[in-house]
Amino acid sequence: MGFQINDRVRWVGKVDWELRTFHGEEYSTHRGSSYNSYLVRDEKIALIDTVWQPFAQEFIENLKQEVDLKQIDYVIANHAEIDHSGALPELMELIPGTPVYCTANGIKSLKGHYHRDWNFVPVKTGDKLSLGKRELIFVEARMLHWPDSMFSYLTEDNILFSNDAFGQHYASEFRYNDQVDQAELYQEAIKYYANILTPFSKLVEHKINEVVGFNLPLSMICPSHGIIWRENPLQIVRQYLDWAKDYRDNQVTIIYDTMWNSTRKMAEAIGQGIKSANPEAVVKLFNSARSDKNDTISEIFKSKVLLAGSPTINRGILSSLAGILEEIKGLGFKQKKAAAFGSYGWSGESVKVISEKLTGAGFELLNDGLKVLWNPDEPALEECVAFGKQLGESLKE
Ligand code: FEO
Repeated sequence: MGFQINDRVRWVGKVDWELRTFHGEEYSTHRGSSYNSYLVRDEKIALIDTVWQPFAQEFIENLKQEVDLKQIDYVIANHAEIDHSGALPELMELIPGTPVYCTANGIKSLKGHYHRDWNFVPVKTGDKLSLGKRELIFVEARMLHWPDSMFSYLTEDNILFSNDAFGQHYASEFRYNDQVDQAELYQEAIKYYANILTPFSKLVEHKINEVVGFNLPLSMICPSHGIIWRENPLQIVRQYLDWAKDYRDNQVTIIYDTMWNSTRKMAEAIGQGIKSANPEAVVKLFNSARSDKNDTISEIFKSKVLLAGSPTINRGILSSLAGILEEIKGLGFKQKKAAAFGSYGWSGESVKVISEKLTGAGFELLNDGLKVLWNPDEPALEECVAFGKQLGESLKE
């Protein structure tokens, strides 16, 4: 059921405790998610966003407990992706003439998804919709993260309905940022940014500066996934600005796959070398075949340096590592350094293949990489430690 955010705004969304993957199987959601929909009551009543289609019927039944659907004057579709628009077809069957406010691109996307000709009203940045004492002000947020995305700002209450921006896939019995475990909240927020928004970082910076430039007071940010930011809501705005500026912690992430543990031994020895030369550095190792891809990507996002390792197989590399390197190519990380390593038995192409993929993904190579023939013996492991030490030293620069 819903809950009251203030005397005018009510959350009417759905907490999805069961969700474990999102965007098909592309994004892991260990902590579930929520689809936040908001009902705003003034002289007029507006509904902002809906929920994912499997919950459409439940959403509408609950909404009927909150309001006579025919009293809804306006539907605001901040974003056409089906996790937010999925209940529109069923809702609009019940209130067919109600205007649907969205961007021009939103109309295209909604028509593309549902092939219905609802009473669309296109809006642009700065357009206002009066609800009575309050207004909704619309701000286009093109490519954050779809062409149609937009924010809606409610005057008087000073609430920004930001849709995907500032959201997290995080189901909770709590609703506000000051009520939940802060480490969990930030882990989900950075994962969302790293895996979904990184390609659009330049636009994030530009859009935030534009919205800040409006000088609108801000009491709350209500995203369409996860927790509402009411305690110091600017903290997540500042955090986004930080993340958008080619974010790097003092961290090295080592990802590898291994067939008979030779490359794993190399990874661990390199990690030891980095730590011995640079005790302050955070060093994290992930076997790409056994680790959650999106969590690993979040760690790469936080890193200054990525080390990637695979043995050679069929003149190439193991598929789990190839997959993650392909994914980070699309994310377009900037200002990060990298190096390759791997064991081999006879032809030994893996280091060259990995290096090419790292370069193609926009990483600056620190060196030509490190190859070890067969299972590393003591001298080979010492070579790996030395390789790590050199990297650890270079991190201090
Ligand atoms: Fe939460 Fe882009 O949908």
